[in-house]
Amino acid sequence: MTPAEQSLKAAEICRLAPVVPVLVIDDLAQARDLAQALIAGGLPALEVTLRTSAALDAIRIMAEVPGGQVGAGTLLTPADVKAAKAAGATFGVSPGATDRLLDACAEYDLPLLPGAATATEIMLLLEKGYTVQKFFPAEQSGGASFLKSVGSPIPQVKFCPTGGISLKNACDYLALSNILCVGGSWVAPKEAMASGNWAEVTRLAAEACALRPQA
Ligand code: 3PG
Repeated sequence: MTPAEQSLKAAEICRLAPVVPVLVIDDLAQARDLAQALIAGGLPALEVTLRTSAALDAIRIMAEVPGGQVGAGTLLTPADVKAAKAAGATFGVSPGATDRLLDACAEYDLPLLPGAATATEIMLLLEKGYTVQKFFPAEQSGGASFLKSVGSPIPQVKFCPTGGISLKNACDYLALSNILCVGGSWVAPKEAMASGNWAEVTRLAAEACALRPQA
């Protein structure tokens, strides 16, 4: 899958809803309910970070929930890409980008949202054909004002910013023409997950979904 093809698919996924939940799943038993709760609230694109031992099995379970698009986040190595694809991830997300990681996504046909945080990193990915990128860590790297500024010289790259985004500042990003969606963990708080308060997760997802009217 070429970078251009990957970006087309990534754009499609990013346009499904204004927010992509960034999920850290410790307990596999939560996976199905969590996916159902988020999808019910209107957020179908889900990023499961490969930061816990349960993550790959969680992707396997969540990929079976109707109406969702489950991706793997925190991809760092070619082995991560291979494992994510085998678990059923339909897209990948990485905090940065290395040639080995990009080559693996091409080889395993996994549409990647590669991470960038500077104009040069954005340009290097654009040279390879990635027109849809993750801006990470968003708040710490200049936030919405950075993305607004970078949109003048490089309007052809669209972003999914993540890192430090919440209900409070999501609209600052979503108002920009070079933003497709934002990523954030606030829609799946640890307390709600631990207590199985799926109604609260659905409420937070619906609140996030309403941040921008859907086309
Ligand atoms: C991450 O990779 O942890 C994401 O950027 C989510 O960040 P957040 O927890 O600040 O939403």
